[in-house]
Amino acid sequence: MANINILKLIRDKRDGRAHSIEELGWLIGNLDSLPDYQISAWLMAVVCRGMNVEETTELTRLMAVSGDVLDLSSVPGPRVDKHSTGGVGDKVTLVLAPLLAAAGVTVAKLSGRGLGHTGGTIDKLEAISGFRTSLSPEEFLEQLRQIGCAVAGQTGELAPADGRLYALRDVTGTVESIPLIAASVVSKKIAAGADVILLDVKVGQGAFMKSLEEAKALADVMLAVGERLGKRIICVVSDMEQPLGFNIGHANEVEEAILTLQGQGPEDLTDLCVELGALLLEGAGKVEDVASGRKKLAAIIESGAAIAKLREMILAQGGDPAVIENPKSMPQPKYRIPVQAKEAGFVTALDAFVVGGAGKILGAGRLVKGAPIDLAVGINLVKKVGDKVEVGEILGVLLANDEGQAKAAAAELLAAYRIANRPVEAQPTIKAVFTKSALLA
Ligand code: URA
Repeated sequence: MANINILKLIRDKRDGRAHSIEELGWLIGNLDSLPDYQISAWLMAVVCRGMNVEETTELTRLMAVSGDVLDLSSVPGPRVDKHSTGGVGDKVTLVLAPLLAAAGVTVAKLSGRGLGHTGGTIDKLEAISGFRTSLSPEEFLEQLRQIGCAVAGQTGELAPADGRLYALRDVTGTVESIPLIAASVVSKKIAAGADVILLDVKVGQGAFMKSLEEAKALADVMLAVGERLGKRIICVVSDMEQPLGFNIGHANEVEEAILTLQGQGPEDLTDLCVELGALLLEGAGKVEDVASGRKKLAAIIESGAAIAKLREMILAQGGDPAVIENPKSMPQPKYRIPVQAKEAGFVTALDAFVVGGAGKILGAGRLVKGAPIDLAVGINLVKKVGDKVEVGEILGVLLANDEGQAKAAAAELLAAYRIANRPVEAQPTIKAVFTKSALLA
């Protein structure tokens, strides 16, 4: 290890050389003492030059063991987990964790904060008054034993190396990298200790992976890393051309998740949650096939058991469950400003990245590491792809606390819409499902 140093690693990666196991071990072992600027330079070199499967697997393993690896053996099985690579309006975890727990599987979910233009589950949950997202491993396990689900942020003890890298990537333009995303996602999943893991790889304008090829490549790398590290992973590639559901923000996304658990959510969000849930139920051996899983989950929503489980989860994590009856008790914006269509026709595209950017202008995202975000602001979409629009009709409503920001966000939201004379065909939400890596074939 004598001649390993950060400058050499940055230069090696910049010039396209692969790191050895020892070098990666040194890097992750010394992460705490290295300055942000050198880690950031290394991250950028990885974005530009990539990593091979061996490096990605070792980086993942080292990040997973950089803190505690949760031992879920004291928790009733099967134990499942799900993770999205990040999108706009993606509140699937808020729905899926209670839904699956109500179906009899344990959901041990560690989530992140917003990253780049995408929102984070942990930030969203903090819109619920009193909700504690920081649980110790003991508290996390106890809650799983008691109610079958817990959603918490990664703490200093679980995959702390990812915590450090994730926060820096968010503010240095180094998110979009297959090996870095794969290592970040899979390391957290390994540290969280579940038996069956579903990874939802988002693809499209609002995702870090813009093309289906890139998304499939990321899915493949994550499956390969999972297989090499002995984890059962299912990868789904799902659409993120336009935002998921109608709400982008924090409090308003929690409200939409509540509606979905009550059977009144948007169709795209409901369908995706049921499909991912059914795949996990099948993977966990709880149902014979995915079709039976779908039926089971639809019945659980219908019976009220899913929303009841969310109530239990909010209570267990110190939140105010009255939010279910009164979602407007969460932070609300000063202004609700409609954005009207300037032309008539059909919405043929709604760029999720641009919508995410509009949300950021309103204060729903971070521009610098650790900055506070405004949980009240966001966007309530009214028109989505396929909808007919007349001039002057409302496309969406900005939830704002600052008029100047709202003006800039309105221009951005308008720019996100493409309106044409003819409608386009609706795209399926789920584009592909993989259970085996082609890389290891
Ligand atoms: N989600 C993660 O957990 N990490 C990433 O790098 C991207 C999305």
